[in-house]
Amino acid sequence: MTGTQAHEDAEALLRIAVAAAAEAGRLLASWRGDERPEVIDTKSSPTDVVTEMDRRSEALITGLIRAHRPGDAVLGEEGGQTAGGPAARGSDGGRPGRVRWVVDPLDGTVNYLYGLRDWAVSIAAEVDGTVVAGVVEVPRHGETFTAVAGGGAWLHRGEAAVALRCNSGVPLGQALVGTGFGYDAGRRQVQGEVIAALLPHVRDIRRGGSAAVDLCSVAAGRLDAFFERGLNYWDFAAGGLIAREAGAMVGGLAGRTESTSMAVAAGPGLYQRLDMFLSRLNPERDAQRTQERDG
Ligand code: IPD
Ligand code: CA
Ligand code: CA
Repeated sequence: MTGTQAHEDAEALLRIAVAAAAEAGRLLASWRGDERPEVIDTKSSPTDVVTEMDRRSEALITGLIRAHRPGDAVLGEEGGQTAGGPAARGSDGGRPGRVRWVVDPLDGTVNYLYGLRDWAVSIAAEVDGTVVAGVVEVPRHGETFTAVAGGGAWLHRGEAAVALRCNSGVPLGQALVGTGFGYDAGRRQVQGEVIAALLPHVRDIRRGGSAAVDLCSVAAGRLDAFFERGLNYWDFAAGGLIAREAGAMVGGLAGRTESTSMAVAAGPGLYQRLDMFLSRLNPERDAQRTQERDG
């Protein structure tokens, strides 16, 4: 396949993702109740909640994706991985299973529950295991962030689209750094220790409440850097591409790739400084503590 053909394919996947994210964003934003949406389940801890709206959003997105591409796999936060149906076998040039969609139907559920504005719908499309297109829809801000691999990162507001560029050359001491905390108490203990050590050495810390929005904020220069231990893949699949396409470095610590263990995003220079600083603090050490505790 030529580079142009791959780019066109990624653009076609992006169009589906954008349409699905917009529809899901409208559904989520249509919640106008005076009461909070009902918590119908919990996941990793009692504060890791699922509302009816998380599930409805994912069902809507999966349905829209499958209407266009019935054979693709979908990995969704709420529904897990579902394989495509046989109907799709011919829809991808006779090569079934090349495309997988990675969906966080509502990133920032706690913000959503409390009526805060930073929550998003995040959809990424992988081809052969590599993310090639991503959208993060932020309905309460009227903003849609998109990227395809090699095509730059874009912020759409209504009809207007602006190319995004992350901040560069920011010294650690001047950096506004976003982060987030997991739902597990033991992990949070370590995350608190890491923040306590980092705080005196940066401009300030932000905890926005949606990793997908945070990564787009790095892309847009609204944050200089972001890191978080223990994200799920659907939290950073789309936002990671958007940050990278805006010129940010995205990875793990000490040369590793971004993962569910650690994800870091920052402009060149700052990334290396933050990587060195964080690596010395061993922010992934809660895994050892849990292992020691559980034998
Ligand atoms: C969460 C948000 C939050 C991050 C958590 C995530 P959810 O996703 O992205 O900012 O700190 O680690 O789990 O649960 O709202 O989809
Ligand atoms: Ca999430
Ligand atoms: Ca979610």
